[in-house]
This record gives sequence, C-alpha cells and structure tokens, in this order.
Amino acid sequence: MRPHPPGKFLHPKARNPLGPPIGLLIGSALLSLFLVQAGRAESRGDAKLGKMIYAKNCAACHGQNGVGLGNRSSLPNFTDGKTMAAKTDQELFNKISNGGKGTGMPAYNKVLAEQDRWHVLAYIRTFSNP
Ligand code: HEC
Repeated sequence: MRPHPPGKFLHPKARNPLGPPIGLLIGSALLSLFLVQAGRAESRGDAKLGKMIYAKNCAACHGQNGVGLGNRSSLPNFTDGKTMAAKTDQELFNKISNGGKGTGMPAYNKVLAEQDRWHVLAYIRTFSNP
C-alpha cells in the first residue's frame, strides 16, 4: 500500500466534522432524559414515607388499597393504571395541594408540607405502578 502523503492522513473517525457535536447532542439528550425522569414523582417523593402520610390523611376516603370507599362514587380509583397514567404528576400534585373545590377532596397545602405532598403522590402512584 502506498503511504499517505504526510499531513494528509486523517483517522476515519477524525475525518467526520460532525463527530464531536454529535457526541455532545447524544450527551445532552441523555441529560435531558435524566432531568425528565428526575421530575417524576417517583424521584421527587419517597413512596415509603408517603405511605404513612396516606394512611393518616387519605385512607379514610380513598381506602387503604386506593380503590376509594364504596359510598363515595366520585372517588378516583388509584389502582386504575389507565386513568392514573393519563394524569400528570403536576395535575395530581395540584389536586392534593388545592383540593377539589367543592368535590369533597380537601386541600392539603396548609396541612402537609410540600415535600410530604410529593411523598404521598409517589405512594399513590404505587397503587397502579407497583
Ligand atoms: C374527605 C374525603 C377525602 C380525603 C380525606 C382525601 N380525598 Fe382525595 N379525593 C376525594 C374525592 C371525593 C375526590 C374526587 C373529586 C376530585 O377529584 O376533586 C378526590 C380526588 C383526589 C385526587 C384526584 C385523582 C384524579 O384522578 O384526578 C387525588 C390525587 C387525591 N384525591 C389525593 C388525595 C390525597 C393524597 C389525600 C390525603 C393527603 C386525599 N386525597 C384525601 C376525597 C378525599
């Protein structure tokens, strides 16, 4: 094989001018994926801590098992994965914080600290996503 003229040879990988930016793109894509994950209740709250908060504050209406007590037909079923998956964490968090305004769901923004509301949300998620 004829030797390359000095200075002209580039390693095939180094020849791609898009090389480093693509690596950067993949890196930042992975980073934003991580940040999205970090934004979910599972990581914002601790379901184990939420369990105690739930038992004390929520189980009276929503039931120990999250199905909702029978005589309150308007109660959501936390074990129903399809309906629960359709709700964002922020929606559910807002409902817990501000209540249902006349629906019977109390507001917990003055009862539970913000972090505790994330804990209890993380726990509610475990009913449909064990
Ligand atoms: C006095 C009864 C009662 C208590 C106590 C109660 N809830 Fe509710 N909750 C309701 C009712 C009724 C609804 C349905 C009406 C509505 O969404 O506003 C509801 C709805 C919700 C929803 C909305 C679900 C959806 O699918 O949109 C969430 C989340 C929720 N409750 C969480 C909690 C948490 C967490 C606690 C305890 C910190 C709690 N609730 C305590 C009665 C209650």
